[in-house]
Amino acid sequence: MPALATFELTKDYAIGFWRKRPYRALDGLTLEIAPGEVFGFLGPNGAGKTTTLKLLMQLVFPTSGRAEIFGRPLGDLSVKRRIGYLPEHPYFYDYLTAEELLTYFAGLFGYAGAERRARAARLLDEVGIGAERRMQLRKFSKGMLQRVGIAQAILNEPELVIFDEPMSGLDPLGRRDVRSLILRLRDRGCTVFFSSHVLSDAEALCDRVAILARGRLAAMGRLTDMLPFRARGWDLVVAGVRDETVAALGTRVRRAVRLSDGHYMLDLPPDSPPERLVGELTAGGAHLVSLNPIRQTLEEFFVEHVTTPAAAGAPRDVEPPHGRRP
Ligand SMILES: Nc1ncnc2c1ncn2[C@@H]1O[C@H](COP(=O)(O)OP(=O)(O)OP(=O)(O)O)[C@@H](O)[C@H]1O
Ligand SMILES: [Mg+2]
Repeated sequence: MPALATFELTKDYAIGFWRKRPYRALDGLTLEIAPGEVFGFLGPNGAGKTTTLKLLMQLVFPTSGRAEIFGRPLGDLSVKRRIGYLPEHPYFYDYLTAEELLTYFAGLFGYAGAERRARAARLLDEVGIGAERRMQLRKFSKGMLQRVGIAQAILNEPELVIFDEPMSGLDPLGRRDVRSLILRLRDRGCTVFFSSHVLSDAEALCDRVAILARGRLAAMGRLTDMLPFRARGWDLVVAGVRDETVAALGTRVRRAVRLSDGHYMLDLPPDSPPERLVGELTAGGAHLVSLNPIRQTLEEFFVEHVTTPAAAGAPRDVEPPHGRRP
């Protein structure tokens, strides 16, 4: 039984002031997430990611279609207890401290006495809010609030977590922390469903991803199986190589750019394994500085596959905008 399944899930919002008309934010989304899977829900701004997560949390209700969590309908109370949710913009009572807030939430989840405080303390440690636990939330930075939001979302040891942009507002270190936290959740058997508009957040973390654009599913599967995201080459930076060595590489390198003090940036074609070249160069006394795959970004994918009129499909308005004034 899937941890999460949606069936033709569709949401129209009513937009316009004088004359309301429906606007399709999510269009027939069907997907299934297996228990224990880390699933990335990717898409650019306005794709319908938050709308989907809000539908799952019953913060908004579908125009048509339905969803199930652990094989039960969404309204089921026994299901709600097993889910954790991080909203897109976590907002908490400003004058509470992080510790007070988490202790309060632990109380709501039914934990009592010492367990309530111990659980709050443990979770704050887990998300890296140790020293600041007695500080009022109004003094917290965006990234710190994000961490408190994550702590709140996993307080009840959920079996499924739904995170809306868990990496947003975090610096590289914070992103790394969230990544390892998601992996720890997975190791405990928790299913993770998170949204992001950054491809690299999903790389090396997600079992599968779904790519949403204009409310529609544009692609779904393993990122490594998705042709557009395969490496189109490698960007290699090495130090301590001689100009003659680089010149002798010939067609094994598409382009060589001499950077400062003996550093070279080499553009390698996708068909030759970079390990061998790196091995040869380092055996000749060079040092590896960095090696990165060159691949299409999510943004380029959207430009190529989604914004062309044919790929975009029907207009976004469900009805033609009658009587709209210029
Ligand atoms: N309450 C609402 N009323 C009307 N339109 C809405 C409402 N909420 C969202 N929309 C519209 O639905 C579309 C999808 O919005 P949604 O917030 O789901 O996108 P998203 O993928 O989460 O984007 P982002 O990456 O910016 O968070 C957008 O065009 C948005 O303007
Ligand atoms: Mg959003």
